[in-house]
Amino acid sequence: MTHSEKQEVKVFAPASVANVNCGFDVMGFALEKPGDEIIARRTDGEGVSITKVTGDGGVLPANPQKNTAGVSARALLAHLGTNVGIELEIHKKMPMGSGLGSSAASSVGAVIAVNRLLGSPLELHELLGFAAEGERVACGAAHLDNVAPSLLGGFVFIRSQQPPDVIELECPVPLYATVVHPKIEIRTEDTRKILRREVLLSKAVTQWGNVGGLVAGLLKGDYDLISRSLEDVIIEPIRSVLIPGFNEVKQAALDAGALGSGISGSGPSIFALSSSEETAQKVAEAMQIEFARLDLDNDVYISRIKREDPYIIEEQ
Ligand code: HSE
Repeated sequence: MTHSEKQEVKVFAPASVANVNCGFDVMGFALEKPGDEIIARRTDGEGVSITKVTGDGGVLPANPQKNTAGVSARALLAHLGTNVGIELEIHKKMPMGSGLGSSAASSVGAVIAVNRLLGSPLELHELLGFAAEGERVACGAAHLDNVAPSLLGGFVFIRSQQPPDVIELECPVPLYATVVHPKIEIRTEDTRKILRREVLLSKAVTQWGNVGGLVAGLLKGDYDLISRSLEDVIIEPIRSVLIPGFNEVKQAALDAGALGSGISGSGPSIFALSSSEETAQKVAEAMQIEFARLDLDNDVYISRIKREDPYIIEEQ
């Protein structure tokens, strides 16, 4: 074992909001919380094993070839040309099937913990492709819009999935996210299947105008431009019918002062962006009132969006 190698590493990896409505598969941002905790520990055996899963992940497969964290860790070990024995503990601290990037957080936590355990042979951004392998298992597509923000923090734009070309977007003004999770489960794999394979050119023009506008608005810190650009004319009209009360909850967020709102990832969570924590709080109350009208139990998360790496909780 080299000096920088460890016996055990515990990592926090955050939840994320993918798509950010107009940017299907190409945009995402990380929340400060919730997130998953992953422990990687050396063993005498060979390869990756999963020894414990707690929280909402109780139903997850313990087979490392089927579990997203296991798949990502195995992909990383294969790349590094080693088959050292590593056991993983997965402590799910957020709901699965919620649109909060739960599987991505576990994959990100696993690759960071394993990389660290092995003396950090790779840089953070070099871990992206291995974390994405977990997404392929979780929902049939290795999209990066949850793993990239969970890994890198803040807002990210994905110019290309393969090879990964990810741009971190630093927004010079404060941005707060409100995410309300109604307690129903929607599987990303299912909501990808219902999408149309072709889009009308006129809609594509509107959509890429909005994506460009959102990226420019974030980089310039222009709240009006961000607000004007938060419109999805392609995916939201199809997926929103799966979320009870979607239109009312979104409208309530806008009426309460949000810059924009939409489906978080593939849902059912709904996110809104605001320019202050105070507004984000008001937006949360307004959104929750609408879900309460439908008797839909829900959780709410309010988070500042800022550039922040997933962090090492402890190591030895
Ligand atoms: N971009 C992905 C989708 C995110 O919308 O299917 C899933 O969390």
